[in-house]
Amino acid sequence: MKIVVIQGPNLNMLGVREQNIYGPMKLEDIHSQMEAAAKQNGLEVEFFQSNLEGEIVDRIQECIGDADGIIINPAAYTHTSIAIRDAISAVRIPTIEVHISNIHQREEFRHKSLIAPVCAGQITGFGPFSYHMAMVGMTQILNEIKQQKEAQAAQQAQQQA
Ligand code: DQA
Repeated sequence: MKIVVIQGPNLNMLGVREQNIYGPMKLEDIHSQMEAAAKQNGLEVEFFQSNLEGEIVDRIQECIGDADGIIINPAAYTHTSIAIRDAISAVRIPTIEVHISNIHQREEFRHKSLIAPVCAGQITGFGPFSYHMAMVGMTQILNEIKQQKEAQAAQQAQQQA
């Protein structure tokens, strides 16, 4: 099974950008840790970062028939993008929203996520570890889906016998 990790604007600047808020870890290092966790669970993982809203919408749409789960940090678009929300809603692929900082503890304009209502869940405020928690959550969701499919297949086989 495959997970696509989508990173929004300015996350390519992690390690340089506002270290007091986001810490010293670079995006590549976060991705290496996620890759290791995925490998341990027998999952494939692919990474995408863009500063452009339309490119993020395109990447979400490309997940149809390609990805089983999406982990997304929409960054500033969390608070503004109906287009990203609609794309997640359209593809009907389990999605987890991630934030490094605790968006509810920060400026009021960050308290609202337009993305959260179309996601399985939101993880916010654990630093780079938020991504690891999202991997654990997504692994659980995908295992449940797999088990449901296996149970359905077994039931169908029994009905046909
Ligand atoms: C962020 C929080 C957003 O409010 C902000 O615009 C970001 C990063 C986070 O990971 O904490 O760019 O998504």
